[in-house]
Amino acid sequence: MKIAVYGAGGYTGRLVAARVRAKGAEPVLVGRGTERLRHAASAAGVEGAELRTAGLDDPDALARALDGCAAVVNCAGPFTRLGEPVVRAAIAAGCHYVDTTAEQLYIQRIFDTCGVDAASAGVTVIPAMGYDIVPGDLLCHLVGTAVAPVQRLTLAYDIRDFGMTRGSARSVLEMYTGGEVAYRAGTWAPGGGPTRRDPVVFPGETRPAKTVRWPAGEIVTVPRHLEVREVDVVMRADALVPSPVSVVAPSLMPIMTAVMRTPLGRGLDKLVGRLPEGPSEEQRRKARFGFVAEATGTDGRTSRGVLQGEDVYGSTAAIAVEGATRLAGGGSAAGVLAPSQAFDPEDLLAALAGDGITWSVDGPS
Ligand SMILES: NC(=O)c1ccc[n+]([C@@H]2O[C@H](COP(=O)([O-])OP(=O)(O)OC[C@H]3O[C@@H](n4cnc5c(N)ncnc54)[C@H](OP(=O)(O)O)[C@@H]3O)[C@@H](O)[C@H]2O)c1
Repeated sequence: MKIAVYGAGGYTGRLVAARVRAKGAEPVLVGRGTERLRHAASAAGVEGAELRTAGLDDPDALARALDGCAAVVNCAGPFTRLGEPVVRAAIAAGCHYVDTTAEQLYIQRIFDTCGVDAASAGVTVIPAMGYDIVPGDLLCHLVGTAVAPVQRLTLAYDIRDFGMTRGSARSVLEMYTGGEVAYRAGTWAPGGGPTRRDPVVFPGETRPAKTVRWPAGEIVTVPRHLEVREVDVVMRADALVPSPVSVVAPSLMPIMTAVMRTPLGRGLDKLVGRLPEGPSEEQRRKARFGFVAEATGTDGRTSRGVLQGEDVYGSTAAIAVEGATRLAGGGSAAGVLAPSQAFDPEDLLAALAGDGITWSVDGPS
């Protein structure tokens, strides 16, 4: 079974290519330049893998590059700028699609614009099949269904010792220029309104941690598989910024969006280009992540779940390849789907236990 990896020359693409081979499938390395792909094949330990070259500006070549592949994992970001041509090529080639994005408005755009074409081509498309947003989407589903219909659902991210790649930094900048979406009263609307900052007690702690609003993809995906009125996603503030900033700023979005409009903001992209490509393998493995999801049903019952894991980029490769191989094996509906629509959440989490992901749900109470 052939699994294509678009953007295989990048940091995440190499991890994904290695994981495809470790799963016993045949990785096909695709990207805009043969030299990068040759180097990636050797660095990822997938020597002898098939290499195919196709740029994003040539839809026919891109579709041909996916020919004969059961699924593609797209790792070329920022996805807001680069993602859609690969989704379109996958639909044209009859190849199932997952990607590694965390960009909220891109995820929403793919749901809004590609669903009908994917469904009529018999192709499943899952944007954001990585650390963002699979653990959060699955945990929200499990916590929410315990008390559904849900009045309020809050998901909180925590991350420790995270060494961000240059590619992720570019995507974060992209997220801060485009705006955000909110989910209120059972519908999506432009975000940026008042932020609720429910105190969140993370596992192993007794005091609530400060949080900031986070423009996460789960706001787009969770209401597609859970009957819910309001969804909030927050990030533990001291995971990202020094605590004094997080005390005064309920969301980094307005501050960063304003900065991005200044010459300083426009220069940030160039600065990011000078960063190292990403953490060393040793640093990468040190990263720890956690999620807390809390739901209150319309009848007042509550439930709470926690999920913990390690190695953000390694986990992303494991999750994306698990998703791609499951789609290649058949059984998921065609169309654009959230992770919890495409797969049984408990079953997918069980498959990821070997990669250090643990979880539990308490309630209803
Ligand atoms: N959600 C998550 O948890 C998660 C985890 C990991 C990664 N990601 C996302 O995945 C993306 C990649 O991250 P990364 O760290 O792997 O970045 P990276 O090392 O910079 O790799 C980026 C890849 O995109 C390709 N690319 C860039 N511009 C292109 C263009 N115009 N045409 C064709 N290909 C192009 C690059 O091709 P060349 O090799 O030819 O330069 C490279 O293969 C980012 O958006 C990041 O946010 C998300």
